Amino acid sequence: MIVLGIESSCDETAAAIVNDKKEILGQCLLTQLNEHKPFGGVVPEIAARSHLEHIDEIIEQTFKDAKIQPQEIDAIAAASGPGLIGGVVVGVMAAKALSLALNKPFIAVNHLEGHALAARLTGNVQYPYLLLLTSGGHCQILIVKDVGEYERLGTTIDDAAGEAFDKVSKMLGLGYPGGPIIEKMAAVGNSRRFVLPKPLFNSGDCNLSFSGLKTAVRKIIESYAPDGIIEHAIIPEQDISDICAGFQLTVTDCLCQKLDKAITIFKQHYPQGKDLVVSGGVASNTFLRNRLAALAQARGLDFSAPPIKYCTDNGVMIAWAGLERFQKGYTNTLDFKPRPRWPLDENAPKAAGAGGVKA
Ligand code: KG4
Ligand code: ZN
Repeated sequence: MIVLGIESSCDETAAAIVNDKKEILGQCLLTQLNEHKPFGGVVPEIAARSHLEHIDEIIEQTFKDAKIQPQEIDAIAAASGPGLIGGVVVGVMAAKALSLALNKPFIAVNHLEGHALAARLTGNVQYPYLLLLTSGGHCQILIVKDVGEYERLGTTIDDAAGEAFDKVSKMLGLGYPGGPIIEKMAAVGNSRRFVLPKPLFNSGDCNLSFSGLKTAVRKIIESYAPDGIIEHAIIPEQDISDICAGFQLTVTDCLCQKLDKAITIFKQHYPQGKDLVVSGGVASNTFLRNRLAALAQARGLDFSAPPIKYCTDNGVMIAWAGLERFQKGYTNTLDFKPRPRWPLDENAPKAAGAGGVKA
């Protein structure tokens, strides 16, 4: 069984072809990073236009890379939400057109399911497993029971962790995306110099909050500006590293604290479960990965994370999620409408205190 996957929900135009032997036959990815950099974040209109411009050649390249003919694939999957709708539409339309032309089934993949299942392609992860899904737009703790079956144990009630990395980086004038830059600065910083708040740390549930942490960092930066305006702050290099290290440690402490609670719940309800998985862009962070690996070991679980290039957005995870869906017989008709909002656990109640759409 061979599936083509297409990803275009944020700022990566990507495609990949995988088979049911867990082989990645071909892939191609184009990042729009440089197009969005001057704006300090992803500009939806620019993203949509860029996806449109490049999607055909990305798919063509993927077939070339795989050295297979379009007729040889069995189905076409596309990330069909959640995400920036202009971009999502581009990938979905391309997939539907191919589906029609090749007379092969179309599979609408939830972008978050792509992140959630990636570790099953790259490692030996069995259902049910506990998942920390942490990216630029989402931060959730879920039990993955099977393809399409999720139970959300916790979520951020405001910013996603990746969003907090990006905002802190912007405030420090370090650029976009913030995660990799902050991680690099933090590596030479003193994480104990600036003690930052840990919102919801002792709330007793598995929910998370990062907006207060971001505000605390803002206050520190303001103290370096003669007029209190952060753009005017003059911060010595070592102090920037210390702020980054303190911030990274605090985010990690919060994620580990809530995962520790979630592990207890997971073990109670699914004693047969043996895996803790982290995925999504923030899962690229080595400091966080090491802490999660230690937590898993202490609690008797196996720790898995996809290789870093499959943590951030990519076509491989969409192709794989599409393949798992296809194996179950889940396909979609061509009138499927892309979904800008598409929670993995549709039954999860709105988290108390949550204002934004992320929860
Ligand atoms: O999964 P992803 O590529 O896109 C979304 O679906 O959101 O995640 C992107 C996010 C950005 O916020 C970026 O700053 C963060 O992942 N990120 C990191 C690291 N690499 C990427 N955060 C922390 N440490 C990193 N090394
Ligand atoms: Zn993503």
